[in-house]
Amino acid sequence: MSSKSGQDRPNEAYWQTHLKWYEEEQARRRDLMPTYIIQEAFLSDYFARCGKVKSLEFGCGFGRFLRLLSKLPNVDMHGVDISPESLECISTWAEPAWLREHITLISPRQRLPYENDAFDIVFTVSVLIHVTPEDVRSLMAELVRITRGHILHLENPVTDRPKKITDYHGGCWAHPLVDHYKELGVECEVFPNHNTRQSFYRAIIDKTVPLPEVNPLVAESLHELDERVSKSNDYTERSRVIVKAMDDLRSEVAKVNQHLREEIGRLLDDIRADIQSVRSEVGNQNEAIRSEVAKANQQLREEVANVLAGLWSRRLRRALARVLGVFRPRRE
Ligand SMILES: C[S@@+](CC[C@H](N)C(=O)[O-])C[C@H]1O[C@@H](n2cnc3c(N)ncnc32)[C@H](O)[C@@H]1O
Repeated sequence: MSSKSGQDRPNEAYWQTHLKWYEEEQARRRDLMPTYIIQEAFLSDYFARCGKVKSLEFGCGFGRFLRLLSKLPNVDMHGVDISPESLECISTWAEPAWLREHITLISPRQRLPYENDAFDIVFTVSVLIHVTPEDVRSLMAELVRITRGHILHLENPVTDRPKKITDYHGGCWAHPLVDHYKELGVECEVFPNHNTRQSFYRAIIDKTVPLPEVNPLVAESLHELDERVSKSNDYTERSRVIVKAMDDLRSEVAKVNQHLREEIGRLLDDIRADIQSVRSEVGNQNEAIRSEVAKANQQLREEVANVLAGLWSRRLRRALARVLGVFRPRRE
């Protein structure tokens, strides 16, 4: 598998740091779109009709399927993901010992840390959409290697060529999964449409392993439910509007920030100039005060000198008078 740097794969980098966001976002979306419940209904019904199976969810995220399907006594669920946050999310509901044995954190685009034929059923839900067309074939080959029964994908609607669907998360893709499996020598069927946004695929690795039947009437009903609810509550359109509004808001905030930065820069320059002129004004006044004080000092010194001179001369006079008195000849 590819060991190229992930710098050119922003989608991977996105998931490695945004899984907690996704758990909250999905909780919010569940009120608006039935997709998640349809996926859960499909998989829990499917697994309930399997024998005893060891299963791996590739791209298990915060572990909603691990938690759900582990409730079935015939299912031993394992999960793998590239996001360290997935472990944190799962540890909020799973015991540490279970977590250690059942969940594996991997680096993207590496050989998976499992033996050949390690699992009866491997499945992905809304994961391949985040994998580039360049990487998807080798990833699928790895899934084939570790599966002894069959692989399920709840992924993009059927397409005959790779397509970039959106620019979200650095780019999301639809893949021609049936054709890719054909190239890998694996037969892949598509179930009747359960959901408006996705197709449900089954790649059969070992034809001798019994396969549960899927009821096409349930698929029809679920599809109709999804179509009606989604139409009346067009989440995709609304989320597009919200994303655009947020982008606009972000660029407005950036403009205001830039304007404020320039204003504050100008104000700081003015304040600096004012401080400079106050400083030189104070300097001038200090100089004037200093020379006034020097003058006053000089005057004071002169006056004191005069006074002292007066004092001294009076004393001198007195002293002279005394001296004169002592030596003045008597008058009798
Ligand atoms: C939309 S979430 C779906 C999570 C889960 N399957 C569910 O339906 O709740 C996509 C998941 O795919 C994982 N993922 C993305 N790219 C991956 C890759 N190259 N290898 C393994 N997992 C990947 C993400 O970390 C994330 O958990």
